[in-house]
Parts: sequence; structure tokens; C-alpha cells
Amino acid sequence: MTTASDWTGVASGWDVHRDRVEQMKAPLTAALLEGLALKPGERVLELGAGTGELSRLLADAVAPGGQVLATDVSPGMVELIRRTVTDRPSIRVQQADATSTRLESASYDAVVFRMGLMFVPQPADALRECRRVMRSGGRLAVAVWSGPGQNPWLSSVGMSAMMQGLVQGGPPTGPGGIFSLGEPEQLGAVAREAGFGDVQVLRVPIVAQYASAQEHYESVESLAGPLHQALRAATPEQRAAVQTSAAGLIEPYRAAGGYQVPGEALLLLAH
Ligand SMILES: C[S@@+](CC[C@H](N)C(=O)[O-])C[C@H]1O[C@@H](n2cnc3c(N)ncnc32)[C@H](O)[C@@H]1O
Repeated sequence: MTTASDWTGVASGWDVHRDRVEQMKAPLTAALLEGLALKPGERVLELGAGTGELSRLLADAVAPGGQVLATDVSPGMVELIRRTVTDRPSIRVQQADATSTRLESASYDAVVFRMGLMFVPQPADALRECRRVMRSGGRLAVAVWSGPGQNPWLSSVGMSAMMQGLVQGGPPTGPGGIFSLGEPEQLGAVAREAGFGDVQVLRVPIVAQYASAQEHYESVESLAGPLHQALRAATPEQRAAVQTSAAGLIEPYRAAGGYQVPGEALLLLAH
């Protein structure tokens, strides 16, 4: 499980690496926007909005006349979103926990949660909350990471940190872990449990590009909310061991210009 402070601790890393994050997630973002088919004038709620980059695209998709409420549980991320969206007056920003938003019922045409639901230990509760705030006929788009085997760009560092005894709490596939909703059937079942119908789960391949193994390690360390503090608190020897081990794990993906490390997201679309 992660906390709001885990994410506030990496907000500056997300600020620095926002272009890398968006580039890597571009195929997922395209599939999400296509699946939602937003129309001018619609109202969209984004949960766990992170940097706010996706919020800007959502605002463009509902213009003219539409509105986006960009939210996040972490105060540091909320601050980041505020700075990102200054050029989009149709976006409002507010702090909210996905499991209890305190927003009015039946008030949004679409709800979006990109790469955050898996951190919620009771994900069906968060999806029930999404349903509550949706208008009749509203659409849901949720993205999570597939399993560790499909995401070596991330699991290479996570597994290496685990081998050094640096990872506290349960396994990353357990409740609230980054890979906790990594199976399509599992993700679909959570949506149905929360009362959604017409549930579809798509696999979306992505590629993470790095100029060097050092760049790979540093970017994952800066972005990984759950791992960041453990790695920062480690001894120099432990960090060096994690770095060496992670570099070995991404070696198969060496390519022209550095490394092209594969990943896979799952995109849940439901009504
Ligand atoms: C991996 S980041 C993804 C950020 C952004 N959505 C993206 O795709 O680039 C996860 C985000 O979810 C937020 N988050 C985690 N748990 C949350 C919760 N219970 N409610 C709302 N946001 C949450 C974190 O603060 C963080 O900004």
C-alpha cells in the first residue's frame, strides 16, 4: 500500500520526468481517449491525476464548453497539477481520495484513473465511488500496469531492491501493490463487483526508452512512489547493488541509442 506522502515525496521527480512519462504512456493515452470518445461540453473527473498532463488532453477533448476536475490524493501532486494546468481555465483542481471523493453524485459524464487504482487496497470501493459520481450512461477508463513479467522497465529495479531486503510490506502483486491488478480477468472482475456493465479490458504494449542503464535506474528511482524512500534510505553499497542488478536485468533490451525496455498496461473501459 502507498500513502499520499509517498507520492508527495516523488512529485519533484514527476515534474522533471513528465515528458518521459507521457512519451512512454502515449499508446495507452491514445487508446484511453479513443475508448472514452469524449464530446464537447462533457464533464470529466480525473482521479490520481499526477502531473496533470492527461488532464490537459481531457480538457481539449471536451472543448468547447466542457469541464475537467483534476484530483489527486497527494498534496504534492495537487500542487504540481495546479502549475501544469494554468493554461486551461476549464480545469479545476482539488485534493481527493479515490475511495471517498466527497463529490456530488451523478455529476460526471466520464471518470478517468490512469495508473493509480492498483495502489488502492480495496479497488472495488474506489470503482463504486466512480459509479456514484457518474451520470447515467457515464463512461469509465482505468489504466493499470500488467504483471512484473510484462514490465521489466519497472520490475528490474523493484526485484533488485527486494533482493537487497529494501522493500517493506507485502509483495508488489498483493493488495495495494503496483502489480496488484495485473491480470485482465482480475481487473474486469473488480469493475463488475463495483456494478459496472459492458466491461472491456485491453492489453496495451508500451516501450520505455533510456540512453543508459544509469538513466533507467535514476528515472525509476525518481518516479516510483512506493520504492523511492526505501532506495534513498539505503546504504551506498545497497544502492550500488540494486543499480548493478537492475542494469543486468535490462541488458537483453539494449538497442541502438541505449535501451528499449518493454512494458504493458491494461486499459479497462466500462459503462
Ligand atoms: C503512478 S502515479 C500516476 C499519475 C498519473 N495518473 C499518470 O498516469 O501519469 C499514481 C498517482 O495516483 C495517486 N494516488 C494514489 N493513491 C490514490 C488514491 N487513493 N486516490 C487518489 N489518487 C491516488 C498518487 O498520488 C499519484 O499521483
